[in-house]
Amino acid sequence: MIGYGFMGRAHSNAYKRLNDFFPLDHRVVLQVACARNAEKVKAFADNWGYSRVETDWKKVIEAPDVDVVDICTPNDTHQEIAIAAAKAGKMILCEKPLARTVAEAEPMVEAVEKAGVANMVWFNYRRVPAITLAKQLIDEGRIGRPFHMRSNFLQDWTISADLPQGGAGLWRLDVAAAGSGVTGDLLAHNIDTAMWLNGPITRVTAKTETFIKERPHVLTGKVEKVGIDDACLFICEFANGSLGLFESTRYARGHKALKTFELNGADGSVAFNLEEMEYLDFFEYKQSSGETAESHVRGWRRIHVTNGEHPYMDRYWVPGLVIGYEHTFINALADFVRGIESGKHTQPNFRDALQTQKVCEAVLESGKTGQWVSTGVSA
Ligand SMILES: NC(=O)c1ccc[n+]([C@@H]2O[C@H](COP(=O)([O-])OP(=O)(O)OC[C@H]3O[C@@H](n4cnc5c(N)ncnc54)[C@H](O)[C@@H]3O)[C@@H](O)[C@H]2O)c1
Repeated sequence: MIGYGFMGRAHSNAYKRLNDFFPLDHRVVLQVACARNAEKVKAFADNWGYSRVETDWKKVIEAPDVDVVDICTPNDTHQEIAIAAAKAGKMILCEKPLARTVAEAEPMVEAVEKAGVANMVWFNYRRVPAITLAKQLIDEGRIGRPFHMRSNFLQDWTISADLPQGGAGLWRLDVAAAGSGVTGDLLAHNIDTAMWLNGPITRVTAKTETFIKERPHVLTGKVEKVGIDDACLFICEFANGSLGLFESTRYARGHKALKTFELNGADGSVAFNLEEMEYLDFFEYKQSSGETAESHVRGWRRIHVTNGEHPYMDRYWVPGLVIGYEHTFINALADFVRGIESGKHTQPNFRDALQTQKVCEAVLESGKTGQWVSTGVSA
């Protein structure tokens, strides 16, 4: 485990609970926790039950008793750690976005594919049971030909002009560490989900904005230009002919993590809201029998995604009882281990995440030029 911050904790929880909930041939052993501050990483390791600590990630990569490396560090470190881990023959789990740029991500894909090591990127929202159910309904043909996808990820934590950039906790505001702002941090999730549900995004046009142009930098002590996108709105075309509308910002006062999407097809629609993550809203226009629902009973249906028949839910409680954010990481990990055990590796892997990276980069380029940009992602 490299990094003990937000994701270090979320993933450690998943490793600890995985074998309690999922029957697997392999058991997780929490071997090494790594971060640069020895005292802090020791406290983290003791709390979560890691056997030992390191302050240099290279030692983790070299360790013969480590099979899997989990990269939970800021985006500017992903490439170096992942390539070294692949060369050392380790399986790799990497946080999203895969890297800061496509140029940085491509050699990562090459490295894991050349080494033939199992790899996954933590686009964990695919493992929200309601979102996995949406994928199932779409694949069953229940919404028919898709026309529109709209998707938001709204926060409000950077509105204060006094907030500095850079350093621990605030690396997300520093373009050198993060690569981009809301596009790579938040929209990458929405793009991954959108392409999983609705296929490749082929062209984009975007408006990005940096509302606060300068902020003090924690590492240099100077007031410096802010290089990240504070907000990003884009429209897009999908390869299947449908249209997309995406919005993300850290300036939507009142919203902490309002992540929503809706997909409208000729025969039905699905809608999701992370604040009520146990529900999937479904409008069934044409039923699986081929008949349209009688108009006096037609309407949006709220599916409480807690039955044993629903994705992942047979591993948890009885129908009607919910699971939460942390379980998306347990579910992702279960898929990863099952993929290794069955030889049918799970997704999204590094190559899948590269496609999302390409869309992010096209969005950022369009934000600069004001032009439509092809993503290079194809069906
Ligand atoms: N999947 C998700 O929903 C999700 C959510 C949050 C963050 N993330 C991603 O996870 C990654 C980490 O984000 P976070 O919120 O956990 O950040 P964080 O700031 O909370 O934690 C980062 C950790 O990395 C450590 N670190 C930094 N440089 C290091 C180095 N050179 N060697 C070893 N340790 C180092 C820090 O000490 C800290 O423990 C980012 O790529 C981010 O985009 C994903």
